[in-house]
Amino acid sequence: MASNLIDAQERPNEMRRVAQMVAAQLTRAAIFLVVTIKQGPEHAAAIRSFCGDLAGLLRAVEFRDIEGQLSCVMGFGSTAWDELFGAPRPAELHAFREIRAGARHAVSTRGDLIFHIRAKRMDLCFELATQIMARIGAATTPQDEVHGFRYFDDRDLIGFVDGTENPRGEEASAAVLIGEEDEAFAGGSYVIVQKYLHDLDGWNALSTEEQEKIIGRKKLSDIELDDSIKPSSAHNALTTIVEDGKEVKILRDNMPFGSVAQGEFGTYFIGYSRSPRTIETMLENMFIGRPPGNYDRLLDFSRAVTGSLFFVPSATFLENVTPDPPIEDQSAIADSSAMPAVAEPSPSISPGRDGSLGIGSLKGEIRHE
Ligand code: HEM
Repeated sequence: MASNLIDAQERPNEMRRVAQMVAAQLTRAAIFLVVTIKQGPEHAAAIRSFCGDLAGLLRAVEFRDIEGQLSCVMGFGSTAWDELFGAPRPAELHAFREIRAGARHAVSTRGDLIFHIRAKRMDLCFELATQIMARIGAATTPQDEVHGFRYFDDRDLIGFVDGTENPRGEEASAAVLIGEEDEAFAGGSYVIVQKYLHDLDGWNALSTEEQEKIIGRKKLSDIELDDSIKPSSAHNALTTIVEDGKEVKILRDNMPFGSVAQGEFGTYFIGYSRSPRTIETMLENMFIGRPPGNYDRLLDFSRAVTGSLFFVPSATFLENVTPDPPIEDQSAIADSSAMPAVAEPSPSISPGRDGSLGIGSLKGEIRHE
């Protein structure tokens, strides 16, 4: 996290800014909940008043099994941000941009809020999701709810280990947390989600060697294919982004999901990054191709049925949201640091408990300043 800390000594009056648990450990269970906010000022006010209570709700459910690694990340879509908070807004927040290329289509679907709930046990996820909806259900319309599970050896339902090349520790924080490039929103992150359905019969009709060339790794051992045999269209080739000689990483926590009786076998893709541009470039490479036409053959067997982009503010931001509507007149906003509707000093970023980024520990972190 050191690279994400703004030097507090240079700004002695600042409080620490705690990130949400974006870089939480991968867990065995997850719920991905996407909702839209109903029209009307009373509904926006209900959501704003909920923001400050999420950390407390999480602590209450988490404490029922402290070993259960329960975490929750809350994100906001572009339109919802404007309605809830107004200006200032995160520099790169916009609606998910759909991509069409041949038979491939990265759809853009509705979503004002996302809750990414993770834990070792599904009951913890389920309880927190229930408590969240008890609070915001009347103000929102559910758009999508997916219950993800960890499959054998961390494999996805197409049989490959998924998540191997994720950055870890400090590298993960550096990949996902906004720094001084958008200082008012430092400690925040962007998240893109897409729900994919697989044609498993078609996929399983391929030989293992053909599948390995599509993914770019060996199926059983998970070892990366040698560059001499890995096609330039391999999934892990098209999703490798290099800028100024340096690889730009994202953090994924994909989860299998499905319904056996309905023949539904899916992967819920979730990717966090400090700029949405990184994931958007990956998507362009996958759907359009790099160069165009050299697309990701995984998409011949996988169809995106949702697609949304959200901004994940710091936990400190969430904690300080008040029910008041945003101030329309921007000249009336004295401090352009992105703290909502309360007179707080502008914060620096801090990791949560155990060096992780925990909203569960938010109150403790600030109190110890
Ligand atoms: C059908 C949905 C998807 C499936 C089943 C899938 C599966 C996989 C698998 C098996 C790997 C190799 C192991 C690993 O390093 O994790 C991988 C790597 C990766 N995937 Fe995906 N993926 C999907 C969608 C996406 C999307 C939509 C993106 C980004 C827009 C993405 C970005 C990446 C990245 C960045 C890597 C690591 C590349 C590297 O550094 O080697 N994936 N994926």
